[in-house]
Amino acid sequence: MNPSLLADTLPDGMFTLADHEHQAGLRLSEAVRAYFNGGAADQLTLRANTRAWQDIALLPRVMRPLASGHTRVELLGRTLAHPLLVAPMAYQALAHAMGEQATAIAAAALGTGLVLSTQSSTRLEQVARAYLPDAGRGPLWFQLYLQPDRGFLRELIQRTEAAGFEALVLTVDAPVHGARDAERRAGFELPPHVSAVNLNGMRLPPTTALQPGQSALFDGLLTHAPTWDDIAWLRSITRLPVLLKGVVHPDDARQALTCGAAGVIVSNHGGRTLDTMPATAALLPRVVQAVAGDAPVLVDGGIRRGTDVLKAMALGASAVLVGRPVLHGLANAGANGVAHVLRLLRDELEIAMALTGCRTLADAPGALWAQAHSR
Ligand code: FNR
Ligand code: LAC
Repeated sequence: MNPSLLADTLPDGMFTLADHEHQAGLRLSEAVRAYFNGGAADQLTLRANTRAWQDIALLPRVMRPLASGHTRVELLGRTLAHPLLVAPMAYQALAHAMGEQATAIAAAALGTGLVLSTQSSTRLEQVARAYLPDAGRGPLWFQLYLQPDRGFLRELIQRTEAAGFEALVLTVDAPVHGARDAERRAGFELPPHVSAVNLNGMRLPPTTALQPGQSALFDGLLTHAPTWDDIAWLRSITRLPVLLKGVVHPDDARQALTCGAAGVIVSNHGGRTLDTMPATAALLPRVVQAVAGDAPVLVDGGIRRGTDVLKAMALGASAVLVGRPVLHGLANAGANGVAHVLRLLRDELEIAMALTGCRTLADAPGALWAQAHSR
């Protein structure tokens, strides 16, 4: 292993994910801070995500036998030590020189799953080599945007299969970026040493001149945007299970399964796409109900405490993805910082389970105050 991967020491005073966010804010430039932490438009959905988990109350249960309790869950045929995965996030070299490699080392060591972004600043083979050798690792998945250059996409998927990735996550909620006002205001641009290296060589579709009255979006970018029919094509060129990320309507969740998706991820892209859409905590229960146990339903957005993880599981999630806090840990102390963030979430989840009388996560629904109250 590259010794510099573990060279960073954790700054003093890091006890919570909020401490990590504050500390990372002191280290990152204003522009990178805006890119990492910002949401779309007025950032209402961004704020609603954290708020919604906070607003769900838990109810303690006492004196229950808790010995040999655990946080294990089953997901797509694997046993996970705990129900956490690192969300796909682009350009992690903006946070730390070792970028996605440092995140991978830490996630593997903590038994946390890893979803690598298509827009990773590290080659996917290098990330797989950092992650896969750890015996205690979680699942390794690759996130995709359906690129118009289908030949390139096919080769990219073949690379992920050869490298040992175990599932594909097709992100469907961002055919166009949201209105990223905070980023624009801060003048965010990628520095020359950071790029989407796994997309090198991809052909961009030829731009056709717009006629008067045509829209650059509808008659340009969106003419290449994927539709439901493309899922069949994607499935036909890979043996990996395909999950859809960014599904929030119950009907879309059912359609995803009809198209052969192996699971859905309830997500609003961390409040980065459509501002004013509901928090994911509010969206999750109806998707869980619609999917009716036919496939795993994961969720992300605003998970900042172990209690948030317990609440997500109580509402029927199969596992939870964590986004920005991982970038904060990475900025603060590379792999050690990411490991610390994941460790805090694991420890807090165990404490929350113990105090609500949950020996396993199957008991989680009983931890909700609303559920106890309605009986
Ligand atoms: C993201 N997200 C994201 N999603 C995706 O499918 N592909 C991507 O490349 C990225 N890139 C990305 C970059 C940055 C800087 C952030 C903050 C987020 C969205 C991500 O996977 C996830 O849905 C949210 O970040 C979850 O919300 P929290 O945990 O950050 O609140
Ligand atoms: C973002 C893109 C990369 O949220 O998904 O920044």
